[in-house]
Amino acid sequence: MKDILPEQTVRWQWLEQQFRSIVERYGYWEVRTPLLEATELFEREIGETTDVVEKEMYSFERHDDRLTVRPEGTAGTARAFVQGKVMNLQPITRWYYIGPMFRAERPAKGRYRQFHQAGCEIYGDEGPLCDAELIAMCAKILKALGVGDVAIHVNSLGSGGIRERYRDALHAFLLPHREALSEDSQRRLHTNPLRVLDSKSKQDQEVVAEAPSVLELLEPEDTEHFEGLKRHLDALGVDYVVDDRLVRGLDYYTRTLFELKTTTDELGAQSTLIGGGRYDNMVQNLGHKKGVPAIGFAMGLERILALAGETGELPGPSCYFVPMTEPAQVRALVLAERLRDAGIYCEVDGRGTSVKSMMRRADSMNSRVCLLLGEDELAADKITVKDLAAGEQEEVAQDQLLLAVRARLRTSAPNVDAKPAPKAEKGAGTDD
Ligand code: HAM
Repeated sequence: MKDILPEQTVRWQWLEQQFRSIVERYGYWEVRTPLLEATELFEREIGETTDVVEKEMYSFERHDDRLTVRPEGTAGTARAFVQGKVMNLQPITRWYYIGPMFRAERPAKGRYRQFHQAGCEIYGDEGPLCDAELIAMCAKILKALGVGDVAIHVNSLGSGGIRERYRDALHAFLLPHREALSEDSQRRLHTNPLRVLDSKSKQDQEVVAEAPSVLELLEPEDTEHFEGLKRHLDALGVDYVVDDRLVRGLDYYTRTLFELKTTTDELGAQSTLIGGGRYDNMVQNLGHKKGVPAIGFAMGLERILALAGETGELPGPSCYFVPMTEPAQVRALVLAERLRDAGIYCEVDGRGTSVKSMMRRADSMNSRVCLLLGEDELAADKITVKDLAAGEQEEVAQDQLLLAVRARLRTSAPNVDAKPAPKAEKGAGTDD
């Protein structure tokens, strides 16, 4: 779990803003659900034999309630959708969320115990058109964030009982190879053989290379759905690979599954930036009579920030007040409020130290304009405006300060009041 210090939050806010501005163009609106949910929600929806539920949830009991700090956003969002009877309002609902998730995983580069996701969920559209649109939107988001070298993997897990049939087929295939599997996979063979497919162990990968493909088990309607997805992705010009070994670590998926992975090795084994898929049964499981089809994705913000670019720094103040006497400090406070009301970022140095040390701080903060207020200026109702970028200074009447500052800010280098896209910060949110 990490602190995100202000030098880094600039970058986080930029990422979140990019995400919001893209998804809102597709009609997604923000939902905010509690960090705590009933443990049973995750056990039932994510699946008791998944790694997340088996070993990674932060769960506790309080006043006879079994609670869990959310390990992901899909189950809680679907609960909110059902509980709020949102399906009675609109046939299609598009929601997004941004926030922290918690999994007691072994920490590694790109893998944390508190991490952040931005995700989208659509309820009420069976696809496959909306599945393709969602995947294309994911590609667009990564592109806007400057994350290149990404591969899009797609697969289908079918509907109805195909997941169970595939589970049996895999079990039957893997059983004779039991001895060749890693210890973890030998255990999973009985509890959740699908998990063997995305094992990172080389010995497991050699065995599963020959395993049957889920695509061979699909019913005609599932195959048609998957073909539709591919057709629409082609029409949108989205490059993808069909990856019939992609099963993902959560049990709620049906039909479309997808992941966007970095093809660079910067994140080691944690190469998946975005994961998602269809979960047509969840809304019904949660108590809605007829059920509502759904699909969504979530992206790992730490991983994306780690790939999104170079150093960032906090923008400096536009105006830095250097008051030299106590009455000048009071005057500076009043003048600074006026500038702030006009949208200008100001700081007042009220330490009462030497002009030299106040100027040093103005400089080190990358301030654009220094405003010096001494006894003489105060007596004449004036203030000295020192343009640090241009190396010029002038004395102006205090009631003309806003005009003078605005003129200076227009001509010198832009900073926070001009809202530039912050530079990327190398390794944001990582140890390195
Ligand atoms: P997930 O694959 O478990 O899916 O997580 C989605 C993304 O969150 C991952 O691809 C990764 O980028 C990031 N992530 C997961 N765990 C960690 C971690 N410990 N540290 C850093 N980043 C991590 C879900 O959570 C589904 N709810 C996605 C979804 C939405 N499916 C349908 N709708």
